[in-house]
Amino acid sequence: MTGSQRNNILAAASLLHNARSVTVLTGAGVSKESGVPTFRDALEGLWARFSPEQLATSEAFQRNPKLVWDWYQFRRELVQRATPNPGHVAIASLEKRLPRLITVTQNVDDLHERAGSQYVYHLHGRIANNRCFFDCQGDGTYIDVSRMTWNREFGPPPCPYCGRWVRPDVVWFGESLPVDALEKAMESSISSEVMLVIGTSGLVSPASMLPSLARDHGAVVIEVNPDDTPLTALATIKLSGPSGVLLPSLLQALESHAH
Ligand code: OAD
Repeated sequence: MTGSQRNNILAAASLLHNARSVTVLTGAGVSKESGVPTFRDALEGLWARFSPEQLATSEAFQRNPKLVWDWYQFRRELVQRATPNPGHVAIASLEKRLPRLITVTQNVDDLHERAGSQYVYHLHGRIANNRCFFDCQGDGTYIDVSRMTWNREFGPPPCPYCGRWVRPDVVWFGESLPVDALEKAMESSISSEVMLVIGTSGLVSPASMLPSLARDHGAVVIEVNPDDTPLTALATIKLSGPSGVLLPSLLQALESHAH
């Protein structure tokens, strides 16, 4: 670690030490070291022929439900096999150590929860859950497919209520975000003194608007990412590198700061 990186970590630890309220905004980068490919490099191997627009839209699902279902099934299995990395674990430890810390994630995996974080809001849904494509029983008609049997050659199972398709509970391009999670994320951004922005390219709105919302309401923004992003300009401190390495160092610096 270079001297300036060390100084940045100490400065970030001191900000966290004094903060009464913190929002952590995460993206695919935080799960990369768990072996979950980031969104913008996820379309490797088998799926390289398809663009996200062919797989992550409601139109794509209606056009070819099997293709989209199988793609999510592939990612679901990948996520199930993955385990939280030291970055997730450090965020969960920060939550325990600080008076109020909320994690707002764009990730559809559950690695924050499995690392021990308790206050996690999923802006883009959760890949482990499924619901009726038409929400035929009302908003969020969740369906447990684990005990269902169906002919997988046709792709998704049929909804047990209406017989139409079951879909993964993720937000597709062009769809709105879950209202509760978005409200909580905005409220937390507005009331936080520090926002940590970790492993997101900052290209997908409204999640990408949260750091400027936080800053406009007085928060200091700290970015953790090996690359620069459109959000870097908002950050007072930039920690350049992988979150699985830098977040444990940040936690350690915070712990020494406390003594
Ligand atoms: P992206 O794949 O767009 O960006 C991942 C970010 O993580 C990049 O800025 C990388 O530089 C950074 N990164 C890579 N390795 C890292 C590491 N080890 N530690 C920290 N950062 C690292 O992912 P998101 O920003 O999450 O939306 O993408 C946002 C949304 O776009 C996704 O939630 C998804 C997609 O469309 C929906 O599904 C609705």
